Amino acid sequence: MLPETLRWIGQTDGTLELIDQRLLPGKLVYIRCNQTREVFDAIRDLAVRGAPAIGVTAAYGAVIAARSGQDPLKSLIEGCDYLVTARPTAVNLSWALDRMKRFGQTLAERNPSREKFLQVLLAQAKAIHEEDIAMCRSIGDHGSVLINDGDGVLTHCNAGSLATSFFGTALAVIYAAFQQGKKFAVYADETRPVLQGARLTHWELTQAGVDATLLCDNMAGYAMKQGKITKIITGADRIAANGDTANKIGTYSVAVLAKHHHIPFYVAAPISTFDFSIPDGGHIPIEERNADEVRQFGCALTSLPDAKVWNPAFDVTPAELITGIITDRGIIDRPTTDAIRNFFSHAPKGTLK
Ligand code: MRU
Repeated sequence: MLPETLRWIGQTDGTLELIDQRLLPGKLVYIRCNQTREVFDAIRDLAVRGAPAIGVTAAYGAVIAARSGQDPLKSLIEGCDYLVTARPTAVNLSWALDRMKRFGQTLAERNPSREKFLQVLLAQAKAIHEEDIAMCRSIGDHGSVLINDGDGVLTHCNAGSLATSFFGTALAVIYAAFQQGKKFAVYADETRPVLQGARLTHWELTQAGVDATLLCDNMAGYAMKQGKITKIITGADRIAANGDTANKIGTYSVAVLAKHHHIPFYVAAPISTFDFSIPDGGHIPIEERNADEVRQFGCALTSLPDAKVWNPAFDVTPAELITGIITDRGIIDRPTTDAIRNFFSHAPKGTLK
C-alpha cells in the first residue's frame, strides 16, 4: 500500500502534513507545517519533492500564508511571491501559486469576511490536490497501453506516488499496467546524488508489490545493451512549448543511450508541467544545489571535504529524443511545437488553467 504523500488536517486553522522524504526508506514520518517559512523549507530542503507534489504543497502553503495576517489577500500575495523562490526548475510550483493568487484576487472582489476568504481559498487548494490525483490516474490509464508482457521498463529519479499527491506520473503507468495483470520487469536508476531512485522509487514500488531491480546510474547503458530494457519512462519538471523536457540530472544521458539502442523513451507528466511561455528547453532555469550532495554518498563523505564540485539538479532532454509524452489527456507522439499545439487545441475545455 502507498502512503499519502501529503494531507491537510483540519479547517482553515489546520496543518499541512508531509512525508519527510529525506528519511525514507528508513523511516516513514510526517512533518507538520503551520508557517509559510516551514512550507518553504520543506520544499527547498527536499522533505517534499517531485514537481506535482511541490505544486500541491505550495497551494496549501498559500492558504497558510493568507491566514498569517489581517489582510488575507495581501498575505496571500506576499506568501506566494516568497514560496515561488523555494526551487526554480519545476514549473508546477509557479503554476499552483499563480492559480492561488489569481483565485484569491477574484475572490477578494466579492468582499468576503476574512474567514470566508480563507475557507474558499482552502477549498481551492483541496481542488488542486484532488485534480492532481485524478491527473495521475489518467496518466496511468493512458500510458498503460504502452506496456506489454515481457517488457523491461527503466525509470530515472522518482516520478512516483511520492512525487505527486498519489500514484505518480511515470510510475502511474507502471502501477496501472501492474493492476491490469501485465507481467513485466521494472528497473530503477539509483539517481545520484540525492538517490531518489534508490531511496524512493525502489521503496514505493516494493511497497506496492511491484518487483523492481535497482541499478547504479552507470549500469543503464549495459542493461540496454543486454536487452533488459525495452522501454524507458521518466517524469518531468518542466516541458517547453517545443517538447524539450527538464527532469532529474541524468535523464538526458538515459535518453541518448535509449536512442543509440533504439529503445522508446517516454515522458509522463500532467498538463501543469507544460510551460507554454518558453519556446524551448534553453529557457528552463536549472537549479544548482549544495556541493556536499556530490561530495557525500548519503551521509558518508566520499571525496575531499572541499572538493570542487558542479551540482546541477536537472538537465534538459531535447524533444527529438522523446518518443512520446504521456499526459492526463492522452499521448503526444513525437512531440514538436506543432504536435503539442495541435494536441492542446483539441484538449477538452477547462483543462488548461
Ligand atoms: O529534485 P526532485 O527530487 O524534486 O526531482 C524530481 C524529478 O526530477 C522528477 O522526475 C519530476 O519532478 C517528476 S515527478 C512526477
